[in-house]
Amino acid sequence: MRSPLSAISLVYDEAGLRILDQRWLPDREDWVTVQHPTHMVELIQSLAVRGAPLIGVSAALAFAQFAQHTRDPDTLRATALQLREARPTAVNLMWAMDRMLREAPELDAESLLRVATQIFEEDVAMCNAMATHGAALIQDGDGILTICNTGGLATVGVGTALGVIRGAFEQKKALHVYACETRPLLQGGRLTAWELQKLGIPHTLLCDSMAAALLRMGKVKLCVIGADRIAANGDSANKIGSYALAVLARHHGVPFYVAAPMSTVDLSCPDGTQIPIEERPAAEVRGFHGAAGSVRWAPESTPVFNPSFDVVPRELITGWILNTGVHYQPIFS
Ligand code: MRU
Repeated sequence: MRSPLSAISLVYDEAGLRILDQRWLPDREDWVTVQHPTHMVELIQSLAVRGAPLIGVSAALAFAQFAQHTRDPDTLRATALQLREARPTAVNLMWAMDRMLREAPELDAESLLRVATQIFEEDVAMCNAMATHGAALIQDGDGILTICNTGGLATVGVGTALGVIRGAFEQKKALHVYACETRPLLQGGRLTAWELQKLGIPHTLLCDSMAAALLRMGKVKLCVIGADRIAANGDSANKIGSYALAVLARHHGVPFYVAAPMSTVDLSCPDGTQIPIEERPAAEVRGFHGAAGSVRWAPESTPVFNPSFDVVPRELITGWILNTGVHYQPIFS
Protein backbone atom coordinates (compact mmCIF):
# COMPACT_ATOMS: atom_id res chain seq x y z
CA MET A 1 0.00 0.00 0.00
CA ARG A 2 1.26 3.45 -0.90
CA SER A 3 0.98 6.29 1.60
CA PRO A 4 -2.62 7.22 2.35
CA LEU A 5 -4.31 9.87 0.23
CA SER A 6 -6.28 12.33 2.26
CA ALA A 7 -8.48 15.34 1.47
CA ILE A 8 -11.45 16.95 3.24
CA SER A 9 -13.80 15.05 0.94
CA LEU A 10 -12.04 11.70 0.44
CA VAL A 11 -9.60 9.30 2.09
CA TYR A 12 -7.86 6.31 0.51
CA ASP A 13 -5.84 4.05 2.83
CA GLU A 14 -5.61 0.40 3.99
CA ALA A 15 -9.28 0.55 4.96
CA GLY A 16 -10.20 1.39 1.36
CA LEU A 17 -11.82 4.39 -0.30
CA ARG A 18 -14.06 6.54 1.87
CA ILE A 19 -15.91 9.67 0.86
CA LEU A 20 -17.65 12.40 2.79
CA ASP A 21 -21.31 12.20 1.77
CA GLN A 22 -21.98 15.79 0.71
CA ARG A 23 -25.75 15.34 0.52
CA TRP A 24 -26.13 15.77 4.25
CA LEU A 25 -23.81 18.72 4.81
CA PRO A 26 -23.76 20.98 6.73
CA ASP A 27 -25.85 19.06 9.27
CA ARG A 28 -24.16 15.67 9.18
CA GLU A 29 -20.63 14.61 8.31
CA ASP A 30 -21.23 11.01 7.21
CA TRP A 31 -18.33 9.05 5.73
CA VAL A 32 -19.19 6.26 3.31
CA THR A 33 -16.92 3.34 2.37
CA VAL A 34 -17.02 2.78 -1.38
CA GLN A 35 -17.86 -0.89 -1.97
CA HIS A 36 -17.77 -1.27 -5.72
CA PRO A 37 -17.57 0.92 -8.86
CA THR A 38 -21.36 0.72 -9.28
CA HIS A 39 -21.61 2.11 -5.75
CA MET A 40 -19.28 4.95 -6.81
CA VAL A 41 -21.48 5.61 -9.87
CA GLU A 42 -24.49 5.95 -7.53
CA LEU A 43 -22.55 8.26 -5.22
CA ILE A 44 -21.56 10.46 -8.18
CA GLN A 45 -25.07 10.52 -9.66
CA SER A 46 -26.70 11.37 -6.36
CA LEU A 47 -24.10 14.14 -5.76
CA ALA A 48 -22.81 12.50 -2.59
CA VAL A 49 -19.51 13.04 -4.42
CA ARG A 50 -19.56 16.12 -6.65
CA GLY A 51 -17.46 18.87 -8.16
CA ALA A 52 -15.67 18.32 -11.47
CA PRO A 53 -12.14 17.47 -10.26
CA LEU A 54 -13.36 15.41 -7.29
CA ILE A 55 -15.53 13.09 -9.39
CA GLY A 56 -12.56 12.40 -11.68
CA VAL A 57 -10.24 11.57 -8.78
CA SER A 58 -12.91 9.48 -6.99
CA ALA A 59 -13.75 7.44 -10.09
CA ALA A 60 -10.04 6.77 -10.74
CA LEU A 61 -9.49 5.56 -7.16
CA ALA A 62 -12.67 3.43 -7.17
CA PHE A 63 -11.43 1.80 -10.37
CA ALA A 64 -7.93 1.18 -8.97
CA GLN A 65 -9.47 -0.35 -5.86
CA PHE A 66 -11.71 -2.62 -7.94
CA ALA A 67 -8.69 -3.85 -9.95
CA GLN A 68 -7.23 -5.32 -6.75
CA HIS A 69 -9.94 -7.99 -6.81
CA THR A 70 -10.75 -8.28 -10.50
CA ARG A 71 -8.34 -9.35 -13.18
CA ASP A 72 -10.65 -9.89 -16.16
CA PRO A 73 -9.80 -7.18 -18.75
CA ASP A 74 -13.28 -7.16 -20.31
CA THR A 75 -14.89 -6.60 -16.91
CA LEU A 76 -12.36 -3.87 -16.14
CA ARG A 77 -12.94 -2.08 -19.44
CA ALA A 78 -16.72 -2.23 -19.04
CA THR A 79 -16.37 -0.90 -15.49
CA ALA A 80 -14.16 1.97 -16.63
CA LEU A 81 -16.80 2.93 -19.20
CA GLN A 82 -19.55 2.79 -16.59
CA LEU A 83 -17.59 5.17 -14.32
CA ARG A 84 -16.69 7.43 -17.26
CA GLU A 85 -20.37 7.90 -18.09
CA ALA A 86 -21.65 8.49 -14.56
CA ARG A 87 -22.27 12.20 -15.29
CA PRO A 88 -22.02 13.89 -18.68
CA THR A 89 -20.85 17.48 -18.24
CA ALA A 90 -17.67 17.55 -16.14
CA VAL A 91 -14.94 16.48 -18.52
CA ASN A 92 -12.58 15.78 -15.60
CA LEU A 93 -14.37 12.45 -15.19
CA MET A 94 -13.69 11.37 -18.79
CA TRP A 95 -10.18 12.84 -18.59
CA ALA A 96 -9.35 10.79 -15.48
CA MET A 97 -10.79 7.50 -16.76
CA ASP A 98 -9.22 7.84 -20.21
CA ARG A 99 -5.91 8.53 -18.56
CA MET A 100 -6.22 5.45 -16.34
CA LEU A 101 -6.72 3.23 -19.41
CA ARG A 102 -4.01 4.98 -21.45
CA GLU A 103 -1.30 5.03 -18.78
CA ALA A 104 -2.01 1.61 -17.28
CA PRO A 105 -2.84 -0.39 -20.44
CA GLU A 106 -2.18 -3.74 -18.74
CA LEU A 107 -4.96 -2.86 -16.29
CA ASP A 108 -2.94 -4.30 -13.40
CA ALA A 109 -3.80 -3.12 -9.91
CA GLU A 110 -0.40 -1.63 -9.15
CA SER A 111 -0.21 0.51 -12.30
CA LEU A 112 -3.80 1.67 -11.93
CA LEU A 113 -3.18 2.76 -8.34
CA ARG A 114 0.00 4.56 -9.43
CA VAL A 115 -1.92 6.54 -12.09
CA ALA A 116 -4.84 7.28 -9.74
CA THR A 117 -2.36 8.53 -7.14
CA GLN A 118 -0.76 10.80 -9.73
CA ILE A 119 -4.19 12.16 -10.67
CA PHE A 120 -4.85 12.88 -6.98
CA GLU A 121 -1.49 14.55 -6.41
CA GLU A 122 -1.70 16.60 -9.60
CA ASP A 123 -5.12 17.90 -8.57
CA VAL A 124 -3.63 19.16 -5.30
CA ALA A 125 -0.77 20.84 -7.20
CA MET A 126 -3.06 22.38 -9.84
CA CYS A 127 -5.30 23.84 -7.12
CA ASN A 128 -2.28 25.40 -5.43
CA ALA A 129 -1.08 26.88 -8.72
CA MET A 130 -4.52 28.36 -9.49
CA ALA A 131 -4.68 29.82 -5.98
CA THR A 132 -1.33 31.55 -6.48
CA HIS A 133 -2.14 32.93 -9.96
CA GLY A 134 -5.68 33.96 -9.05
CA ALA A 135 -4.96 35.53 -5.66
CA ALA A 136 -2.98 38.26 -7.43
CA LEU A 137 -6.23 39.44 -9.08
CA ILE A 138 -7.86 40.15 -5.72
CA GLN A 139 -7.24 43.51 -4.05
CA ASP A 140 -7.45 44.41 -0.40
CA GLY A 141 -11.06 45.23 0.45
CA ASP A 142 -12.65 43.41 -2.51
CA GLY A 143 -16.12 41.89 -2.43
CA ILE A 144 -16.14 38.69 -4.48
CA LEU A 145 -19.23 36.99 -5.89
CA THR A 146 -19.24 33.25 -6.53
CA ILE A 147 -21.66 30.38 -7.15
CA CYS A 148 -21.88 26.67 -6.34
CA ASN A 149 -19.10 25.01 -4.38
CA THR A 150 -15.60 25.12 -5.81
CA GLY A 151 -13.51 24.50 -2.70
CA GLY A 152 -11.93 21.54 -0.97
CA LEU A 153 -15.22 19.68 -1.28
CA ALA A 154 -15.11 19.87 -5.08
CA THR A 155 -11.45 18.86 -5.47
CA VAL A 156 -8.82 17.08 -3.41
CA GLY A 157 -6.90 20.32 -2.92
CA VAL A 158 -7.80 23.86 -1.87
CA GLY A 159 -10.31 24.19 -4.69
CA THR A 160 -10.65 26.17 -7.90
CA ALA A 161 -12.53 29.50 -7.54
CA LEU A 162 -12.74 29.10 -3.77
CA GLY A 163 -9.05 28.15 -3.70
CA VAL A 164 -8.26 31.46 -5.41
CA ILE A 165 -10.26 33.31 -2.76
CA ARG A 166 -8.57 31.31 -0.01
CA GLY A 167 -5.17 32.14 -1.52
CA ALA A 168 -5.91 35.88 -1.30
CA PHE A 169 -7.26 35.49 2.25
CA GLU A 170 -4.08 33.67 3.31
CA GLN A 171 -2.09 36.60 1.89
CA LYS A 172 -3.92 38.64 4.58
CA LYS A 173 -6.03 40.57 2.09
CA ALA A 174 -9.25 41.87 3.61
CA LEU A 175 -12.01 40.41 1.46
CA HIS A 176 -15.65 39.48 1.64
CA VAL A 177 -17.22 36.56 -0.21
CA TYR A 178 -20.79 36.74 -1.47
CA ALA A 179 -21.92 33.15 -2.00
CA CYS A 180 -24.98 32.43 -4.14
CA GLU A 181 -27.01 29.66 -2.51
CA THR A 182 -27.15 27.83 -5.87
CA ARG A 183 -30.60 26.42 -6.43
CA PRO A 184 -31.74 23.73 -6.77
CA LEU A 185 -29.31 21.61 -4.71
CA LEU A 186 -27.89 24.49 -2.67
CA GLN A 187 -24.19 23.76 -3.02
CA GLY A 188 -23.51 27.42 -2.14
CA GLY A 189 -25.70 27.49 0.95
CA ARG A 190 -24.82 24.04 2.25
CA LEU A 191 -21.21 23.53 1.15
CA THR A 192 -19.53 26.85 0.36
CA ALA A 193 -20.90 28.48 3.51
CA TRP A 194 -19.70 25.42 5.50
CA GLU A 195 -16.20 25.66 4.04
CA LEU A 196 -15.95 29.46 4.42
CA GLN A 197 -17.06 29.20 8.03
CA LYS A 198 -14.43 26.55 8.78
CA LEU A 199 -11.75 28.67 7.11
CA GLY A 200 -12.83 31.84 8.93
CA ILE A 201 -13.28 33.75 5.65
CA PRO A 202 -15.82 36.60 5.96
CA HIS A 203 -18.87 35.83 3.87
CA THR A 204 -22.53 36.50 3.22
CA LEU A 205 -24.98 34.04 1.72
CA LEU A 206 -27.57 35.24 -0.76
CA CYS A 207 -30.37 33.71 -2.79
CA ASP A 208 -29.39 33.53 -6.46
CA SER A 209 -32.00 36.11 -7.41
CA MET A 210 -30.34 38.69 -5.11
CA ALA A 211 -27.10 38.88 -7.10
CA ALA A 212 -28.36 41.66 -9.39
CA ALA A 213 -29.28 43.92 -6.47
CA LEU A 214 -25.92 43.24 -4.82
CA LEU A 215 -24.01 44.16 -7.98
CA ARG A 216 -26.08 47.34 -8.38
CA MET A 217 -25.10 48.33 -4.83
CA GLY A 218 -21.44 48.21 -5.92
CA LYS A 219 -20.53 45.57 -3.35
CA VAL A 220 -18.83 43.25 -5.84
CA LYS A 221 -15.41 43.99 -7.32
CA LEU A 222 -15.00 40.71 -9.13
CA CYS A 223 -16.79 37.43 -9.83
CA VAL A 224 -14.95 34.14 -9.84
CA ILE A 225 -16.54 30.79 -10.61
CA GLY A 226 -15.36 27.25 -11.38
CA ALA A 227 -16.01 25.20 -14.51
CA ASP A 228 -17.05 21.69 -15.45
CA ARG A 229 -15.83 21.93 -19.00
CA ILE A 230 -14.01 24.65 -20.92
CA ALA A 231 -14.33 24.33 -24.71
CA ALA A 232 -11.43 25.10 -27.04
CA ASN A 233 -12.87 28.55 -27.83
CA GLY A 234 -13.15 29.42 -24.11
CA ASP A 235 -16.90 28.92 -23.64
CA SER A 236 -17.19 27.53 -20.11
CA ALA A 237 -19.88 25.28 -18.64
CA ASN A 238 -20.52 25.60 -14.92
CA LYS A 239 -23.36 25.26 -12.42
CA ILE A 240 -26.73 26.56 -13.60
CA GLY A 241 -26.91 30.28 -12.82
CA SER A 242 -23.35 31.00 -13.91
CA TYR A 243 -24.48 32.46 -17.23
CA ALA A 244 -26.90 34.80 -15.45
CA LEU A 245 -24.07 36.03 -13.19
CA ALA A 246 -21.82 36.64 -16.21
CA VAL A 247 -24.51 38.72 -17.94
CA LEU A 248 -25.05 40.70 -14.74
CA ALA A 249 -21.33 41.22 -14.23
CA ARG A 250 -20.94 42.57 -17.77
CA HIS A 251 -23.89 44.94 -17.27
CA HIS A 252 -22.29 46.30 -14.11
CA GLY A 253 -18.74 46.44 -15.49
CA VAL A 254 -17.43 43.85 -13.02
CA PRO A 255 -14.61 41.47 -14.14
CA PHE A 256 -15.70 37.85 -14.45
CA TYR A 257 -13.14 35.03 -14.06
CA VAL A 258 -13.36 31.26 -14.51
CA ALA A 259 -10.93 29.20 -12.42
CA ALA A 260 -10.20 25.60 -13.42
CA PRO A 261 -7.38 23.09 -13.77
CA MET A 262 -6.20 21.93 -17.21
CA SER A 263 -8.14 18.69 -16.60
CA THR A 264 -11.30 20.78 -17.18
CA VAL A 265 -10.15 22.06 -20.60
CA ASP A 266 -11.57 20.00 -23.46
CA LEU A 267 -9.70 20.92 -26.62
CA SER A 268 -11.69 18.33 -28.57
CA CYS A 269 -14.85 20.34 -27.89
CA PRO A 270 -14.91 23.32 -30.29
CA ASP A 271 -17.40 25.52 -28.43
CA GLY A 272 -20.08 25.61 -25.75
CA THR A 273 -22.85 24.34 -28.03
CA GLN A 274 -21.07 20.96 -28.03
CA ILE A 275 -20.89 20.61 -24.24
CA PRO A 276 -23.43 18.01 -23.02
CA ILE A 277 -25.61 19.51 -20.33
CA GLU A 278 -26.93 17.17 -17.65
CA GLU A 279 -30.67 17.30 -16.99
CA ARG A 280 -31.57 16.24 -13.47
CA PRO A 281 -34.78 14.91 -11.85
CA ALA A 282 -37.82 17.15 -11.58
CA ALA A 283 -38.11 16.41 -7.85
CA GLU A 284 -35.00 18.55 -7.23
CA VAL A 285 -36.91 21.65 -8.37
CA ARG A 286 -40.28 20.75 -6.87
CA GLY A 287 -38.74 20.38 -3.42
CA PHE A 288 -35.65 19.43 -1.45
CA HIS A 289 -34.32 16.30 0.25
CA GLY A 290 -31.65 16.88 2.90
CA ALA A 291 -30.44 15.79 6.33
CA ALA A 292 -33.52 17.28 7.98
CA GLY A 293 -35.92 15.35 5.70
CA SER A 294 -37.92 16.13 2.58
CA VAL A 295 -40.14 19.01 1.62
CA ARG A 296 -42.15 19.56 -1.55
CA TRP A 297 -43.55 22.98 -2.42
CA ALA A 298 -44.79 22.47 -5.98
CA PRO A 299 -47.61 20.18 -7.07
CA GLU A 300 -46.30 16.66 -7.57
CA SER A 301 -46.81 16.63 -11.34
CA THR A 302 -45.74 20.20 -12.19
CA PRO A 303 -43.55 20.12 -15.31
CA VAL A 304 -39.99 21.15 -14.53
CA PHE A 305 -36.89 22.44 -16.39
CA ASN A 306 -33.78 21.28 -14.52
CA PRO A 307 -30.52 21.63 -16.44
CA SER A 308 -27.68 21.23 -13.96
CA PHE A 309 -25.27 23.50 -15.86
CA ASP A 310 -25.21 26.39 -18.29
CA VAL A 311 -22.55 27.79 -20.56
CA VAL A 312 -20.88 31.17 -20.10
CA PRO A 313 -19.91 32.37 -23.58
CA ARG A 314 -16.28 33.39 -23.86
CA GLU A 315 -17.10 37.03 -24.64
CA LEU A 316 -18.46 37.44 -21.11
CA ILE A 317 -15.29 36.03 -19.51
CA THR A 318 -12.52 38.44 -18.51
CA GLY A 319 -9.96 35.69 -17.99
CA TRP A 320 -9.44 32.00 -17.24
CA ILE A 321 -7.42 31.27 -14.10
CA LEU A 322 -5.74 27.96 -14.90
CA ASN A 323 -2.91 26.16 -13.15
CA THR A 324 -0.75 27.37 -16.04
CA GLY A 325 -1.49 31.05 -15.32
CA VAL A 326 -4.17 33.65 -16.02
CA HIS A 327 -5.19 33.52 -19.69
CA TYR A 328 -6.87 36.59 -21.17
CA GLN A 329 -7.36 34.86 -24.52
CA PRO A 330 -8.71 31.31 -24.88
CA ILE A 331 -5.30 29.89 -25.73
CA PHE A 332 -4.85 26.99 -23.33
CA SER A 333 -1.72 24.93 -22.84
O1 MRU B 1 -23.36 19.53 -9.72
P1 MRU B 1 -22.06 19.81 -9.04
O2 MRU B 1 -22.21 20.18 -7.61
O3 MRU B 1 -21.06 18.71 -9.26
O4 MRU B 1 -21.51 21.08 -9.79
C1 MRU B 1 -20.23 21.56 -9.49
C2 MRU B 1 -19.90 22.84 -10.16
O5 MRU B 1 -20.64 23.34 -10.97
C3 MRU B 1 -18.59 23.45 -9.85
O6 MRU B 1 -18.65 24.83 -9.99
C4 MRU B 1 -17.56 22.87 -10.83
O7 MRU B 1 -17.51 21.47 -10.74
C5 MRU B 1 -16.21 23.42 -10.66
S1 MRU B 1 -15.61 23.16 -9.03
C6 MRU B 1 -14.18 22.68 -8.88
